[in-house]
Amino acid sequence: MNKLKFSVLTLFPDMFAPLKESIIGRASEKGLVEVDCVNIRDFSADKRRRVDDYPYGAGGGMVMQPQPIYDAYKSVAGDDRPLVIYLSPQGRVLSQKLARDLSREEHIILLCGHYEGVDERVLEEIVDMEVSIGDYVLTGGELPAMVLIDCVSRMREGVLDSRETAETESHYDGLLEYPQYTRPPEFMGRAVPQVLLGGNHKEIEKWRREQSLLRTRKKRPDLLKKAVLSDEDKKILEKL
Ligand code: ADE
Repeated sequence: MNKLKFSVLTLFPDMFAPLKESIIGRASEKGLVEVDCVNIRDFSADKRRRVDDYPYGAGGGMVMQPQPIYDAYKSVAGDDRPLVIYLSPQGRVLSQKLARDLSREEHIILLCGHYEGVDERVLEEIVDMEVSIGDYVLTGGELPAMVLIDCVSRMREGVLDSRETAETESHYDGLLEYPQYTRPPEFMGRAVPQVLLGGNHKEIEKWRREQSLLRTRKKRPDLLKKAVLSDEDKKILEKL
């Protein structure tokens, strides 16, 4: 399996330290994923290493200049024409489906903006896709880039071990995941559902599917409308 490489163009490479921990950290050690941060400031042509300037036409805040971003991009793009994603609240909202599609790429460049924005001309020149992580505004693209890296990397073969498979969990098939329990069998007077203690795998599967359907109807009815349901699922929902 080839590695999935993310090249992150950012002014704050130290913000990406959390990706060295846990599952994504382990995937990097195993060579399944690589996160390479490139500091845009290193490409400033200015002797004071400035990367932003006042906006034409006035208005508040500063705008990131095109040249350092373009040169940072050139330093990682090479000849393979990787997909370039700009993290922006104006982008297509990240979903499980988009994460799955992106996980098939080999090299993704993530551009993180800051200040009031990025000069439009460099976006026109290099960006293939804008991605948002939700309809709210953050101070920069770094946290969204980390969210994207986490969510896309875990869809790559070998990143999750068999006990953590992506296939059974929330959003994978358009439904929310069933509830999970571990020891002890009773906690604060609440018992683990009997069916899970019985070891009848068919019964357990049926119960889990019922719970998934029920939860989705209760917590996210909007998802249930879009989910592809079998005749069996529809019967379960009518019955419940
Ligand atoms: N930058 C600022 N807010 C953002 C968001 N919601 N998604 C992606 N990038 C952003």
